[in-house]
Amino acid sequence: MKEHLASYPYEKPSLDYMQTHIEFATEAQQSNACTLHEAWAKVPAALNATEIQQYQEEIRELLKQHNAVMVAHYYVEPELQDLALATGGMVGDSLEMAKFCKNHPADTLLVVGVRFMGETAKILSPQKTVLMPDLEATCSLDLGCPADEFKQFCDAHPDRTVVVYANTSAEVKAHADWVVTSSIAIEIVEYLHSQGKKIIWGPDRHLGQYIQNKTGADMLLWQGSCIVHNEFKGIELTHLKQQHPEAIVLVHPESPAEVVAQADVVGSTSKLLNAAVQRPEHEFIVATDQGIVHEMQKQAPHKTFIAAPTAGNGATCKSCAFCPWMAMNGLAACAEVLRNQSQQVQLDAALIEEARAPIQRMLDFSEAYKNYHQQQQLGAGLAQFQQWLATQHEAKYSAL
Ligand code: 13P
Ligand code: SF4
Repeated sequence: MKEHLASYPYEKPSLDYMQTHIEFATEAQQSNACTLHEAWAKVPAALNATEIQQYQEEIRELLKQHNAVMVAHYYVEPELQDLALATGGMVGDSLEMAKFCKNHPADTLLVVGVRFMGETAKILSPQKTVLMPDLEATCSLDLGCPADEFKQFCDAHPDRTVVVYANTSAEVKAHADWVVTSSIAIEIVEYLHSQGKKIIWGPDRHLGQYIQNKTGADMLLWQGSCIVHNEFKGIELTHLKQQHPEAIVLVHPESPAEVVAQADVVGSTSKLLNAAVQRPEHEFIVATDQGIVHEMQKQAPHKTFIAAPTAGNGATCKSCAFCPWMAMNGLAACAEVLRNQSQQVQLDAALIEEARAPIQRMLDFSEAYKNYHQQQQLGAGLAQFQQWLATQHEAKYSAL
């Protein structure tokens, strides 16, 4: 353990502790991941229309040649999202990406997002080749939650069930009982709470707090945060809402509580997209990475999307809500890694085994939850679902 962390008592990490920790991690610890500044420096220059077309044609051919499929997150550049969809791949939230990667028959997955997404794909399909445009594209939540520190935190509370957000390394997942994404976190924690479990939650403190408020579960929170969502400002959002009184506010739950409190819809990227498309209103304030506006605008071309503010009145940037690690992905790198079969996600077989169980648990739960709702019609109560789950999966979950 690093010297300046050695005295940490492992009760509840303080914000100050975590801020020092994240800075330390981003500056020195993770040599195989880009720091924030390095990530911005690696963002590829914009391409002109001819270059975009040339790369898209080349990638289309390379995907066929390698029996590969492209799987992208909503936060990456529009031309990457469009190509993934046009070539039979997908664009989705992190849970949908994991399911698609696991179920698709391709030999090679080109995962266009950040490293935890590529690692999850490899863990669920170790036999497939998993390529990423840049393996150093990481996430501030992953950087702020080193596996050795998190393990000590968990070891100090052996009575608690460990639930970790998907935005973590494979090593952190290997310490978890459950992995969750923002689209299924509340349902899983609600289920565990109903079973009388006390929880350790990591790493995003805002999402953890939101789930705790929603479920009433006893949760000990790791104090990580997303550098993009953490920047949304409550007071500025209040002012913006006053200027657009008809607008619906869409918020990702990695945002601070004062921003979440003003939301009409809180949820994963897919949930926010669906709300933007399905709701009858015409104006939406969007508090998540602005990459998602591309798909919102495509699916709801006559609606207006306004970026939620990230900075005070004096700042030049009113919304800088772009993830630098997502922005590292580009068409040129996609073509290069397919051509050379480089930037492959490699994980130790034992680690894959350990990290798979809590991810698979989430997938099983999510599937059971979906099936239940399909059978019972949407809106069925959680208590009924829990009863049903207990009969279906007694042996599987009762040990946790
Ligand atoms: P989603 O699972 O909602 O896509 O979120 C992933 C993420 O990294 C949000 O910042
Ligand atoms: Fe991580 Fe935030 Fe980027 Fe999502 S937006 S990948 S949580 S740093």
